[in-house]
Amino acid sequence: MSIRSALVTGGAGFVGSHVVDALIAEGWRVVIADDLSTGDARRVASEATLEVVDISDRGALENVFEAVRPAAVFHLAAQSSVTRSVADPERDCEINVRGTLNVLAGATPHGAPVVFTSTGGALYGNDAPLPTSEDAPPAPISPYGASKWAGEAYVITWREATGIPHAVCRLGNVYGPRQSPHGEAGVVAIFSHALWDGASPTLFGFGKPTRDYVHVHDVARALLAAVGHAGVFNISTGVETAVSQVFELLRAAADANVEGEPAPLRAGELERSCLDPSRAREHFGWRADILLEEGLAATYQALSAEFELAAG
Ligand SMILES: NC(=O)c1ccc[n+]([C@@H]2O[C@H](COP(=O)([O-])OP(=O)(O)OC[C@H]3O[C@@H](n4cnc5c(N)ncnc54)[C@H](O)[C@@H]3O)[C@@H](O)[C@H]2O)c1
Repeated sequence: MSIRSALVTGGAGFVGSHVVDALIAEGWRVVIADDLSTGDARRVASEATLEVVDISDRGALENVFEAVRPAAVFHLAAQSSVTRSVADPERDCEINVRGTLNVLAGATPHGAPVVFTSTGGALYGNDAPLPTSEDAPPAPISPYGASKWAGEAYVITWREATGIPHAVCRLGNVYGPRQSPHGEAGVVAIFSHALWDGASPTLFGFGKPTRDYVHVHDVARALLAAVGHAGVFNISTGVETAVSQVFELLRAAADANVEGEPAPLRAGELERSCLDPSRAREHFGWRADILLEEGLAATYQALSAEFELAAG
């Protein structure tokens, strides 16, 4: 049996590095296209090949596609900061829209299905019914939400034009090992770092905002299962959890008695978010397995070991 090759854009990132690990465990040959802007080569498994390339550079990306001739493409590379998308919507568009178009163009001659990671949280607005199904109309409130929506539109259009079964996966709030505590999002990593450090994290929205927290191992499994399934799928748990509860669970895992600092919600943040995952289950038999309490406890242990290592 010949070995199948997968191309993972953004494979040096938080979620992408777990997708790479899952593919290697299933016997794929893996090549990563990543410009290391927020990614880290130290996250990349030694069995994978890392090509440092900007996905908005069509020629450079095409060369990678020609060399790899992938049987499947996992497209995770993105400008994924809402704040940066507001500060520089041009660059956000260049990476998330033009970059996605380049990935689709690269995949087409190889007939390779693309699995594109979009956002559940930034796409559906405050008025969507909960848990939100994929059929709710997108109502983004940031350039990041808009560029992801545009990326989705290209994925769907290319699927119609080429007949290649591309998938759009709208992720909930992903948490797990290797998540950076230094971003604006990633509340589990931010709280974990504060608790490890003995500091008081800020509880925006006075701890009330809710999200759909999904473990990165479940997400990686979903993205592999989505290969070849044309459609738009929420990748989430369908469980709505308040940020104050996440803090309580992590505090218990850390055995700490630090208090959170309540503060108002930041501009552009949703009050509630929860995504209905039933379509992914119907189409490719996926459901999240990791319960939040267990996932958070294991994540705190893994992240605190990473923080120790980084602190030297
Ligand atoms: N983490 C979440 O909760 C979440 C939620 C919804 C959607 N997503 C989506 O999942 C994907 C992965 O997110 P993540 O949390 O792992 O983010 P991340 O920032 O850790 O990973 C993104 C990766 O893309 C790379 N990259 C950025 N711009 C690039 C470019 N121009 N060319 C090549 N590589 C580039 C970065 O270096 C990084 O390795 C993104 O598409 C993001 O929008 C994530």
